[in-house]
Amino acid sequence: MGIMTKRVLLARPRGYCAGVDRAVETVERALELYGAPIYVRKQIVHNKHVVQTLERKGAIFVEENDEVPEGATVIFSAHGVAPEVHEQAKQRNLRAIDATCPLVTKVHQEARRYARDEYDILLIGHEGHEEVVGTSGEAPEHITLVDGPDSVDDVEVRDPSKVVWLSQTTLSVDETLQTVDRLKRKFPGLQSPPSDDICYATQNRQQVVKQIAPDCDVLLVIGSRNSSNSVRLREVALEAGARASYLVDFASEIDDGWLVGAETVGLTSGASVPEDLIEQVVGHLAERGYADVEEITTVQERQTFALPREIKRDLAARN
Ligand code: F3S
Repeated sequence: MGIMTKRVLLARPRGYCAGVDRAVETVERALELYGAPIYVRKQIVHNKHVVQTLERKGAIFVEENDEVPEGATVIFSAHGVAPEVHEQAKQRNLRAIDATCPLVTKVHQEARRYARDEYDILLIGHEGHEEVVGTSGEAPEHITLVDGPDSVDDVEVRDPSKVVWLSQTTLSVDETLQTVDRLKRKFPGLQSPPSDDICYATQNRQQVVKQIAPDCDVLLVIGSRNSSNSVRLREVALEAGARASYLVDFASEIDDGWLVGAETVGLTSGASVPEDLIEQVVGHLAERGYADVEEITTVQERQTFALPREIKRDLAARN
């Protein structure tokens, strides 16, 4: 048997997007400014490690506002919330800070505008995902969820000449195009959103995975199972020709059996994954002979988002 040349192809962009970075910093700054505990409705971002780290610093994660003591501070997660959640917070006299990603807010605004103009809105997304629940809450009577190409057959609208599609921000680009194609065949008058709803970070992470996947015997995606964009990265990897692909939260979950016979291991991480988890995986792979790491970069990301206004104001007042 010849000697294997083991190597790692490290995808870039990977990991934290601007919306996650802002949401996590919002919780950290709120802890500094107002002191623990700070309540967070739902996981601030869908990553186990991030949630555990913030819990250690004094964040308390709850499912709903009614678990937050009256008058306390609550932060809404990056995935966005329905208007009624803001309303409940007001009624309980909570100090609510909204860490919804601005790119999710943009989709909420589109939904409100099309609903006001009496459109039927076909929202492409995954049933039950928090983002979809939040966006649907903007105009429940106008929005129908379309969960993938196969559910198109069941979709009905009031007036086929007044229909628009919108989408969750973290979908597979290719699968969404298929869904839109099927919808257009059924509703030729279907209108498209004014700009991409699938966000830049989701698109960029998929694009580089597509590029490296054909060269990978195994492609490891670091991310949590409830992270939509991370789950998509594994699907995109397989679709694009990676021989195998696995989604894990931590290096310790990598099964040595997956690496048997693998020369090239691809590595990426979802938009909610901090870089230290990637560093641990790089170390883990190096111990197994994969010391040669080549970073493959498709684009440089420069997007950043300002912190929520309350946090900016209180930081400025303190200084
Ligand atoms: Fe926002 Fe996209 Fe990240 S919608 S939170 S930039 S994955």
